[in-house]
Amino acid sequence: MTAYSVVIYLLAYHSGRIPILVLILILFLCLWTKRLHYNSKKVMASNSKTSTDVPSIAAEAVLAKSDFDSTNATVVKGYDFNNGIDHHALLSSYATSGFSATNFGLAVQEIIRMINKKLEVPVEDITDFNSHTNRRLSNCTIFLGLTSNLVSCGVRETIRYLVEHNMVDCLVVTAGGVEEDFIKCLGNTYMGAFDLPGKDLRKRGVNRIGNMLVPNDNYCKFEDWVMPILDQMLEEQNSQGMKWTPSKVIHRLGKEINDKSSIYYWCYHNNIPVFSPALTDGSLGDMLYFHSYKSSGLVIDIVEDIRKMNNQAVTAKHSGMIILGGGLVKHHVSNANLMRNGADFSVNVNTGQEFDGSDSGARPDEAVSWGKIKMDATPVKLYADASLAFPLIVAESFARYQQQFDQRLEKEKSLPVKTD
Ligand SMILES: NC(=O)c1ccc[n+]([C@@H]2O[C@H](COP(=O)([O-])OP(=O)(O)OC[C@H]3O[C@@H](n4cnc5c(N)ncnc54)[C@H](O)[C@@H]3O)[C@@H](O)[C@H]2O)c1
Repeated sequence: MTAYSVVIYLLAYHSGRIPILVLILILFLCLWTKRLHYNSKKVMASNSKTSTDVPSIAAEAVLAKSDFDSTNATVVKGYDFNNGIDHHALLSSYATSGFSATNFGLAVQEIIRMINKKLEVPVEDITDFNSHTNRRLSNCTIFLGLTSNLVSCGVRETIRYLVEHNMVDCLVVTAGGVEEDFIKCLGNTYMGAFDLPGKDLRKRGVNRIGNMLVPNDNYCKFEDWVMPILDQMLEEQNSQGMKWTPSKVIHRLGKEINDKSSIYYWCYHNNIPVFSPALTDGSLGDMLYFHSYKSSGLVIDIVEDIRKMNNQAVTAKHSGMIILGGGLVKHHVSNANLMRNGADFSVNVNTGQEFDGSDSGARPDEAVSWGKIKMDATPVKLYADASLAFPLIVAESFARYQQQFDQRLEKEKSLPVKTD
């Protein structure tokens, strides 16, 4: 009995006002409260006694033992700038850096596999020509597809370098990627900004491509240059029975431009076919439209080109695809490779995502399901803006083999060409 309950009892008893049964009830309640208080103190004491022991369920969840053999595993490691500014070492370190940097490294490795396969067999040991392109076969035919904006921007110079040194065997481009190359031989494209207002630019006759600007005058110069060539092409069609296709048009324009800064100048000189089945979807289409009013009748057939393009894949000893961006160029290159039951090597540099079901965003595994990439290939998709990534990829792959490619080209020029 506590002192507190004794006081209550005495007060109540002496006052004589509370019946004895009520007093007993009060006493009982006091004792019960005291017991509850004692029990809770006991629990707290027992808790504090074991507070240094980690609960076993948490320990098992967090500190689970690893079943992982690290003997052959690659350690994640980035570049140490204490070793100086060495861009090759820096870019080589990307492979072990994780995330997109690792995919950059994998893309470089996959392209080096294409190059090694191509260079594996000396040019003089292969006497076969592709009967459709009259191009000497190599041990690996490399297809390069690129969206138009990459010719509008500085990637043009990287593409020009690849075709100048005969490093790739086939180009697939959209119409803008054809005309922008020629237009740049006639006038400059300038740096602008993404947020320049369209209304002001329109009033000033300036066109915006992302953060670059093309004065409309450049397209007027293009019209002045291309219209007489279209006249001549129509004349050759009518008088000599010439059958034009998009690849033949690009070949002819590459000859006419006679400018070493042009992609298609080098494609013409090195006999690299350029396919562009939607050739009318750009300024070239505008020119063909205007020309059809001036002198109607010019025909540009795409059927002959699809045979040429697909047969380049069919006759390839091995095949590699480098596809920058999506849309037409991605599918056209991949579909040609379906004709040979899949490419042996594949690299996509692409910003597209697959959740919308677009072909642009599809990962290489989707192409494997269609037979466009071989089942045992090691394709790479690098999620990146090609304007940033592709020149760096070339720096780490093709550019490091320039001497071998140049020797090969020299040798090839000394060998007999196929004429039919
Ligand atoms: N300069 C131009 O872009 C230009 C000029 C004239 C006409 N056009 C016409 O517009 C049409 C559409 O152009 P397109 O088919 O060449 O491609 P696009 O610009 O429509 O791009 C297709 C997809 O490629 C990917 N992509 C584009 N740019 C990329 C980059 N820098 N890095 C990584 N991924 C990238 C994106 O996923 C994009 O959705 C074509 O018919 C073309 O002829 C374009």
